[in-house]
Amino acid sequence: MTININEILANARGENYDLHEKHVNPRFVKTLGTIGFDRCYNRAEGQYLWDIQGHRYLDMLAGYGVFNLGRNNPEIRQALIDFMETDYPSMVQLDAPLLSGLLAKELKKRMPNELDYVYFTNSGTEGVETAIKFARCATRRSTIVYAHKAFHGLTNGSLSLNGDDTFREGFSPLLPDCIEVPFGDIEALEQALSKSNVAAFVFEPIQGKGVNIPPAGYIKQAQSLCQQHGTLFVADEVQSGMGRTGKFLALEHEGEIDPDIVILSKSLSGGFIPVGAVLTRKWIYNKVFSSMDRSVVHSSTFGQGSLAMVAGLATLDYIDEHNLMQNATEMGNALGTQLAELKDSYEFIKDIRWRGLMLAIEFGKPDSLKLRAAWTLAHKLNKSLFPQAVTIPLLQDHGVLTQVAGHNLDVIKLIPPLIIDKTDVDYFISSFKAVMESLHKFPGPCWEVISRIGKSAFPNAPDINQTTPYESKL
Ligand SMILES: Cc1ncc(COP(=O)(O)O)c(C=O)c1O
Repeated sequence: MTININEILANARGENYDLHEKHVNPRFVKTLGTIGFDRCYNRAEGQYLWDIQGHRYLDMLAGYGVFNLGRNNPEIRQALIDFMETDYPSMVQLDAPLLSGLLAKELKKRMPNELDYVYFTNSGTEGVETAIKFARCATRRSTIVYAHKAFHGLTNGSLSLNGDDTFREGFSPLLPDCIEVPFGDIEALEQALSKSNVAAFVFEPIQGKGVNIPPAGYIKQAQSLCQQHGTLFVADEVQSGMGRTGKFLALEHEGEIDPDIVILSKSLSGGFIPVGAVLTRKWIYNKVFSSMDRSVVHSSTFGQGSLAMVAGLATLDYIDEHNLMQNATEMGNALGTQLAELKDSYEFIKDIRWRGLMLAIEFGKPDSLKLRAAWTLAHKLNKSLFPQAVTIPLLQDHGVLTQVAGHNLDVIKLIPPLIIDKTDVDYFISSFKAVMESLHKFPGPCWEVISRIGKSAFPNAPDINQTTPYESKL
């Protein structure tokens, strides 16, 4: 007798947070409860989620950029169902699976340059670990250079390339010989590479934490420096790839580009099965897998699982068939330009930046005295608090799911499914405007949110709403 999953879900309906409190991660339960994100979602379709009360949410987070094709995409699902009915084998291990060969061939076609071999992983961080190993083995050098504010995943090697101490704290010692440089600063990179002892420069073409877009020309100059010093030029496209920015790789916005290694993951399987891929040059591959003895010297049990490969093939086809990259460009531009126009009306908005559907709304200190005082006090409570005053009402009052773009940043990030349409863009803009109106009224409901969270996280914190700009002496 098989389990009846529908019955299991129905019987436990609404128990999500109790179960997690007891068995998974009580601290996260507390955090979600504090910010009012403790919803129980039980339906998902495309760019929308529904909770058990039947409320609909516009998903501008897409599972951290996994659902480029929207959730429960019917075409990918059908491909998986069809495949599962064939009794096709998976993970025989001592064979060369047809499906991973086919997916590798399709991925190579989409690269801006000739990359010869594809190594499959189960996640983004595993792709970065692979790149670190490949780079060290191929160059026989140990040093890896990465950027300030970089995010490449949270396993030990990837964490060693993380440009944010908050993530690293408590986990040292990490990998030796990892050097941080400021992102977008070509002179600093030149200096770091100058001794010609660096194995790889690992970077995100657009940084996910903060949606930082490097200055024009930086990536190409970085590539030349790497070539000059025998350093591998390694693009982590885990978040920015797969069409998110309007091109298959964000790197391609730089024109002709010639990376040594490209790392993909997230939406490669349409969000159905964990998967990742590392594309690399032949000579690098040959150094790592240098003999028959070493032909599986780097590998992973689940690496080329058939379901992931089928979903990957279906996903690539769907992106092409449905012109998702063009839609990402158009909807990204629609969102970005409309948001940029709001800068004149709302003094908290400092900068809007985007490439396709990877957008940042950055807030900054306002000019007017009252709002300045409130801003300063909020930042004294916690450096990551202010943008919550935007994400919380967006979710609570408008059913729009967004995220703060990183620790100690006044940035919220939008990485919605690439299938969003004009109606979603308009809905987001009107919701965001309503939140901005409220935030620009001090005291007011948005500031109550900040005050409430501040008090819950820092019990002795002053009540922002009770603080006049004069009393606060900020
Ligand atoms: C640029 C980048 N690299 C690597 C990773 C790690 O991927 P994963 O969470 O699948 O390990 C992420 C995850 O957000 C990412 O954004």
